[in-house]
Amino acid sequence: MINLAVATNAKADIEAILVDKNSKIDKEIREIFKLQGFECKAGQGIFVQKNNAFYLGVGDFSIDSIREAGANLARKLKHIDSFRIKGFGDSAKNYAFALGILCGIYEFDSYKSKKNKAKLKSVYLVDSSEFKAEIKKAKIIAESINFVREIVNTPPADCTPKDLAKIAEVLAKDSKNLECEIGDTKYLQKQKANALLAVARASVNEPRLIKLAYKPKNAKARITLVGKGLTYDTGGLSLKPADYMTTMKADKGGGCAVIGAMKAIAELAPSVEVIGIVGAVENAIGGDAYRPDDILQSREGVSIEVKNTDAEGRLVLADCLSFAQDLKPDIIIDLATLTGACVVALGEYTSGILGHNENLKKDFEKVALQSGELCARLPFNRHLEKLIESKNADVSNCSSTRYGGAITAGLFLSKFIRDGFKDKWLHIDIAGPAFVEKEWDINPYGASGAGVRSVVDFILQIADSGIKSGANLKSANQKATKSANLKRESKANKAK
Ligand code: BES
Ligand code: ZN
Ligand code: ZN
Repeated sequence: MINLAVATNAKADIEAILVDKNSKIDKEIREIFKLQGFECKAGQGIFVQKNNAFYLGVGDFSIDSIREAGANLARKLKHIDSFRIKGFGDSAKNYAFALGILCGIYEFDSYKSKKNKAKLKSVYLVDSSEFKAEIKKAKIIAESINFVREIVNTPPADCTPKDLAKIAEVLAKDSKNLECEIGDTKYLQKQKANALLAVARASVNEPRLIKLAYKPKNAKARITLVGKGLTYDTGGLSLKPADYMTTMKADKGGGCAVIGAMKAIAELAPSVEVIGIVGAVENAIGGDAYRPDDILQSREGVSIEVKNTDAEGRLVLADCLSFAQDLKPDIIIDLATLTGACVVALGEYTSGILGHNENLKKDFEKVALQSGELCARLPFNRHLEKLIESKNADVSNCSSTRYGGAITAGLFLSKFIRDGFKDKWLHIDIAGPAFVEKEWDINPYGASGAGVRSVVDFILQIADSGIKSGANLKSANQKATKSANLKRESKANKAK
């Protein structure tokens, strides 16, 4: 990792300077800009020998632009040993810049015989105070994002469910704050996770249920994260066309984001309990494959008619959400590359936020946007719910029309959320931003690590200020339990 430090003064190979249209620039330098056609446009860069400075254009000096500028500098100056830049004198801006640098330098070259080795070793932010906490957090978050990118980019032959489980185990072994439990096929059979098992059945690579737990003393709340970890999605018997199958190694993006978030949480050590559950499964074809028309008995006891084996993520999540609710969390967040429809709706850079609790959705959206991840709320409605009705089972895994596919997928998941948890659940569809085949914002070609920043920041906010979301869920919980107890008592008394 790059040595990133804040210093009051520092020597470096060159100086980096951010400029926008309104920046005051020396007359002489302005002449050079003109000669070279440098117009201070966002992402445009120019090296000026006269003062040994590299100028990078930015649209403005907002936090989002500064984060992206950090990434652009890391990319453009990767062949230089070190550079320095004037700090922003502001906590959020220095954090964003540091994150941009550390995320911008990442490239997936593990399978290249000639590595694109970046030389960049040191970046100095010249500022009056140290911003120690900000730099520390940026390093933890960036390391976790790059960890997720590396796993998601790993080809499916080298990252099977078993491999993913091993990664989680090693992570827990190396961390004093994490515990890891792995469930194999036998365990899943005992647990009647039949929906997950049906998806897994045709693959020679057996499924795994990955559980990572961070349990601090004096935890204020318990949060469960659930991740779709499809190490490959061929579509199953409802086979994907060739052009749609490539990049489906990234269908483990949600599960990997959960593992990455757990890594960051273990290092940041907030006072909330966090438990990550990942359904690691491969959706393959074979003589033993589950079929369209099959009816599955999910762990929650809800029967599912399979209409399309390519809508497999929701089947895996249905059983994972069942495990998650057994833990009696205050909040459940699932992350999944669930639908192409979400990408159509929001574009490839934006995640969809779905759920029943408007306040919870809004709170999450606000934190996610502040963290630098794009997201938007998608609304449920009762008319769309009708589209997943099944004639033969409790629910169909596929909508009867192709419109609103991200929402009908969310409504399907909702069938597996018990009444007491409906208001505590968020579903984040990261199908767009998890993997993009071009460089964008602070992300490289390929996996982005989407979900890590927003989920970790949301958890940190809960640790700092409790669960807001309109109602204090914990006390609402206690009230509900109390009234249930009272009802039970009065029933018992009547029986007497
Ligand atoms: N993994 C895909 C969703 C996806 C699509 C993720 C594009 C990333 C990029 C998911 O399992 C899937 O195939 N969904 C189907 C659902 C349909 C059959 C109801 C889809 O979106 O087309
Ligand atoms: Zn699929
Ligand atoms: Zn999928």
